[in-house]
Amino acid sequence: MSPNSTNIGKDLSIIESSEESKNWRHLWPVVELLKQQQNMQVQAGHFRSSHVLAAVVNDRPVGFLRFVVQRIGEDAGRPPVLFLGRTLFEAKIIAFGVLPQERNQGIGRALQQEAMRRAHELNCCQVRSHSDYGNDANYQLKISLGFGIQPSLENDSVYFVKAIPTADGPDSTRGEPA
Ligand SMILES: CC(C)(COP(=O)(O)OP(=O)(O)OC[C@H]1O[C@@H](n2cnc3c(N)ncnc32)[C@H](O)[C@@H]1OP(=O)(O)O)[C@@H](O)C(=O)NCCC(=O)NCCS
Repeated sequence: MSPNSTNIGKDLSIIESSEESKNWRHLWPVVELLKQQQNMQVQAGHFRSSHVLAAVVNDRPVGFLRFVVQRIGEDAGRPPVLFLGRTLFEAKIIAFGVLPQERNQGIGRALQQEAMRRAHELNCCQVRSHSDYGNDANYQLKISLGFGIQPSLENDSVYFVKAIPTADGPDSTRGEPA
C-alpha cells in the first residue's frame, strides 16, 4: 500500500495509483469498461498535478477517481481568484466510476471522501466536478456529501462544488506540479 492509501473498511482500500503502480494493469480494464480512458489520459497546461485514486477490494480494483489540481478559473481563461493576496486552487474531478456489479455499497462515496481529504492536503479550497442531467446515482452521492449545484450555462449539465476548509488558509505555494 502506498503512503497515500486509506483503509475504509475491512475489504476496501482507496489507493493513490499511477502507471508505475502494480495495480495499474488491473485498474485499466475497469477504466475501459466504463469508457473513461479519455478522462483518465487527458492532459492540459493548466493542470498543476494529477492524482488517480483506485478503489481496491481484496486486491482487485473495482473503481477509480482522477482529479487534477488547477488554479480556480484558469480552465475558463479567467484571472486568478485571490484571498488575502494568495491564489486559490481547486481539485477538479475529471474521471469517476465504479464497476456496475460493485455499485451502491459506498465505494463511490469512499472515493469522493478520499479525494476531499487529498484536496485538503494539497491546500485546495474546493472540489469541483461536472455531470450530465439524469445521472441519479451521482446526483444522490454528491448532494448527500454536501456539494452545491451550479447549472451549466452551456448545456443540460451541472457543476458540483464543495468547499474544503483549510487549516492555515489558502496557500499559493501548493498546487504546483508534482
Ligand atoms: C456514480 C458512481 C461512481 C457511484 O458509485 P457507487 O459505488 O455506486 O456509489 P455509492 O454506493 O457510494 O453511492 C451511490 C448512491 O446513489 C444512490 N443511487 C443509486 N442509484 C440511484 C438512482 N437510480 N436514483 C437515486 N439514487 C441512486 C445510492 O442509494 C447511493 O446513495 P446513498 O449512499 O445515499 O444510499 C457509479 O454509479 C458509476 O460508476 N456510474 C457510472 C459512471 C458515472 O456516472 N460517473 C460519474 C460521472 S462522470
